[in-house]
Amino acid sequence: MENKKYYITTPIYYPSGSFHVGTCYCTLMADTIARYKRLRGYDVFFMTGTDEHGQKIQEKAELASKTPKEYVDKIVADAKELWKALGINYDKYMRTTDEDHKTAVQKIFKILYDKGDIYLGSYEGLYCTPCESFWTDTQAKDGKCPDCGRDVKLVKEESYFFRLSKYQDRLLKYYEEHPEFLEPLKRKNEMIKNFFEKGLEDLCVSRTTIDWGIQVPFDTKHVVYVWLDALTNYITGLGYLGEDDTNFKKYWPANLHLVGKEIFRFHSIIWPAILMALDLPLPEKIFGHGWLVVDGQKISKSFGNYKDPRIYINATSVDALRYYLLREVTFGEDGNFSEDLFIEKSNSDLSNDLGNLVSRVTAMVQKYNSGIIHNKNTKFVEYFDNNLIDVTTNLLAKVEEKMDNLKINEAISEIWEVISKANKYIDLSMPWVLAKEEKYERLDNVLYNLVETIRIITIALQAFMIEVPAKIFEQIGVTEDIQNWESGKIFGILKEGTNVVKGDNLFPRIENGKEIFKVEEVEEKKEEIVKKEEYITIDELDRVKLKVGQIKSVERVEKADRLYKLTVDLGSETRTIVSGLVKYYKEEELLGKQVVVVANLKPAKLRGIESQGMLLAAGDDDIVKLLVLDSNAGTLENGSNIH
Ligand code: ME8
Repeated sequence: MENKKYYITTPIYYPSGSFHVGTCYCTLMADTIARYKRLRGYDVFFMTGTDEHGQKIQEKAELASKTPKEYVDKIVADAKELWKALGINYDKYMRTTDEDHKTAVQKIFKILYDKGDIYLGSYEGLYCTPCESFWTDTQAKDGKCPDCGRDVKLVKEESYFFRLSKYQDRLLKYYEEHPEFLEPLKRKNEMIKNFFEKGLEDLCVSRTTIDWGIQVPFDTKHVVYVWLDALTNYITGLGYLGEDDTNFKKYWPANLHLVGKEIFRFHSIIWPAILMALDLPLPEKIFGHGWLVVDGQKISKSFGNYKDPRIYINATSVDALRYYLLREVTFGEDGNFSEDLFIEKSNSDLSNDLGNLVSRVTAMVQKYNSGIIHNKNTKFVEYFDNNLIDVTTNLLAKVEEKMDNLKINEAISEIWEVISKANKYIDLSMPWVLAKEEKYERLDNVLYNLVETIRIITIALQAFMIEVPAKIFEQIGVTEDIQNWESGKIFGILKEGTNVVKGDNLFPRIENGKEIFKVEEVEEKKEEIVKKEEYITIDELDRVKLKVGQIKSVERVEKADRLYKLTVDLGSETRTIVSGLVKYYKEEELLGKQVVVVANLKPAKLRGIESQGMLLAAGDDDIVKLLVLDSNAGTLENGSNIH
């Protein structure tokens, strides 16, 4: 048995909304590869996690009247639940808000600064304040932000820069000398063409206009900006520059960084350059996978074209979802996520092919042999016996070849080839005829071959599914000593006297189409509400004091591009309320409006200002509308109660 280490990572995800099937896709791929490597005897370290700093998170938290940490803690807890439901077996969940990560990033910043690879400069560009985005001249046509259409302005900000340009030649040389470093090849070529031909520019690695981040240790008005904080997670998560760097020594360099195609360039240019600057070895491979799309559009938090993956798991099973995502998408390419196809594949490949094979074979062993396997009798060998034995014996070698080249969907196809051969074998050998004609030795022989084939198929399935393999092993009575990967390369070690028991259907057919996903969604939500006792009584509702307020003054909050400081007249008193409305309303649009105020909300400090209440609004990231009183229907006095 090999005993090599294997370190594999997913990107760290932004916890800026709930995770969706698109997010699951990469994590699932990584989990599958990690499972496969563990089955092969590797000492695997699989890390995933969350990228928790930055302006977006800070704003989302402000909108939710939470501190950024409170906001991300909730999403992280939910993400961990989701990974559990999907059977994701990670060794470490990395969070960039972890103290050891923060300290290590500060040390890295200092090392690179002392070395001259980080220097102080200034950042200049066209900037849309409400959107917090920099644009190029061509993007910001006529001086307008391409996102919101408002005026952009030329800003100049003091920033630290990483000397990326210095590493241009070394990077190109490295790519050339290590052809396996970046995959797929087309993405590598595209990246070199787009970024190296015009020359690499130094990278802005600090900002003075963001608070929610890791402070630059020797210049505290700066926080570390995005990629230096995020990318270094792959080493800080192993304890690099920390108190205990055992894992770093053991597992670095990574064997595989799995990333989505839109962040491939950051991983293939910036990350190796940072590692070069730190004099650390580079990872063995960076692979850029495609996206899951619905009708051609990327599944994403902001497009709203996704459902909670747990809806699919609850309506079918975790293995059905895993199978669909792993089999239907060609690794490296975009793949369509279709509920109809999911059901079709679940019924044809899982219920008909795999499920039926196991249930037919176990039923026959019970019916004809009282559930007992008798040792094979090689006297009666037909051409189709050899055919089945050959493909089954070679199955794991083929799966290895595909998996070692990250061709997950093709590895699964190899398994289904054998499943299909086994189903044909039943039709050709006709055990029911053998039983009728009392050809018992031949019948033993056939049943043995079938159960042994199922054993080997199940060994292979363990890399891709998490519940079903154990169920099959139990049904076919295979002992633990012949469940391991290496034993799956030998046909004929199933033991005399093995006890087979037909069990429940592994994959019940889905009869009523994609309705099940809708029904489950509602059911699940209902259940959740009841479980968490989220119904409130009228008395509880009464505790929320809603009042009519009128906005009397509007001011921008310094250094917070999304926040207004509002003075709101509640009749008998005036309140200061901080609200993240800059992106959605101009000052003059707010002045004088009668709005709905949560008047008894506990005051909270936002950017040093005490916010004494909250305005009710609807919408999410892209559109937010304040709840305002209809001025046509006469005016209500400020401070009136709302029931
Ligand atoms: O980019 N199909 O985080 P993120 C497949 N924090 N993959 C998808 C997908 C889809 N529909 N939607 C998203 C970040 N992803 C950074 C990474 S790493 C040091 C920092 C994938 O939450 C996407 O391709 O925006 C990316 O690889 C990952 O989810 C994280 O995206």
